[in-house]
Amino acid sequence: MHSIWKSYPKLKRELTQTKQLMTKTLRIKNKAVESAVLEMLNQGGKMLRPAYQLLFSEFGTPDADKKIALAAAIEMLHTATLIHDDIVDKSTTRRGLPSIAHQFGEDVAVYAGDYLFVTTFKLMANYTDSLKSLQLHSDSMEKILDGELGQMNFRYNLKQTAADYLSNISGKTAELFSLSCAIGAIESSTSHLLASQARDIGKNVGIAFQIIDDYLDYTQTEQVIGKPVLEDMKQGVYSLPLLLALETKLVTLAPILNKREAMTDYDATRVEKIIRETNALDKTKEIALEYTNQALKIIQKLPKNAENTKQTLNDITTQLIERIR
Ligand code: IPE
Ligand code: IPE
Ligand code: MG
Ligand code: MG
Repeated sequence: MHSIWKSYPKLKRELTQTKQLMTKTLRIKNKAVESAVLEMLNQGGKMLRPAYQLLFSEFGTPDADKKIALAAAIEMLHTATLIHDDIVDKSTTRRGLPSIAHQFGEDVAVYAGDYLFVTTFKLMANYTDSLKSLQLHSDSMEKILDGELGQMNFRYNLKQTAADYLSNISGKTAELFSLSCAIGAIESSTSHLLASQARDIGKNVGIAFQIIDDYLDYTQTEQVIGKPVLEDMKQGVYSLPLLLALETKLVTLAPILNKREAMTDYDATRVEKIIRETNALDKTKEIALEYTNQALKIIQKLPKNAENTKQTLNDITTQLIERIR
């Protein structure tokens, strides 16, 4: 289990149970693919979304089996999006291993992702007694897809703004964080107010998280993050550091970026170097911090009867931003 959970024994135990249930529930007819997906599950995913979900369930009266099943469902959904994302992004590695698409081909990766989507809904259907959470899940999936499609529409577009980017990551990434927090609250029968605060916290955490991930793409190596770096940019997916650099360096950057598919690794490192010469990385950090602070502010407003959980939410949310400090 990831080191982020080491100081939270109860949560760590529940996340271990979540992973065990995922392993038990996963059935893919092709055994080679099944074991590759199992290996991916056991290969150091941080399990952030189920963690937020489990923490939010603490504000109500959670059922022990149900909360683990719902946590497994959310992590299944996340894993499905990653397997499909690596097809779209042509990513050869994920969590330090060959991506499913790279190892088995895109066709197999489509099916493997589909199996996980189906498993998500099976788990949900078996453990929730109302349609509400299923509706929330499908609404969120739609928003994730809208975010991905929005991002695709802006490929290679030098006129994309930071606001466009924020709107797309609110869908593709923040929606799943938001859903995790909301389901945790709703399925343990908390108040409407708490469910809505949970949603807002998840949204802000998710936006900050994607900004941090995109920052790391320009500042870390593949060995450290376990997935290729600078790859999205080469494919015309421009994230916040580059968009902010474009505000002052359009003339220098445009000729390189306009090479599009013909961009080489050397071109990509030139772009990276130009970004570093601007204040774009510092600005990116500041913006991530603003969303984190907004999340922390709402966390402070959560009910006083769960001080320990509030503290854990506060600490984990703070730790995420510390990855780039
Ligand atoms: C990766 O998410 C996808 C993004 C939203 C950036 P995580 O960084 O949470 O992935 P794992 O599960 O820990 O590998
Ligand atoms: C992650 O997006 C996939 C979803 C949020 C659906 P990215 O493509 O930005 O993330 P990584 O860098 O591959 O994990
Ligand atoms: Mg992507
Ligand atoms: Mg990707």
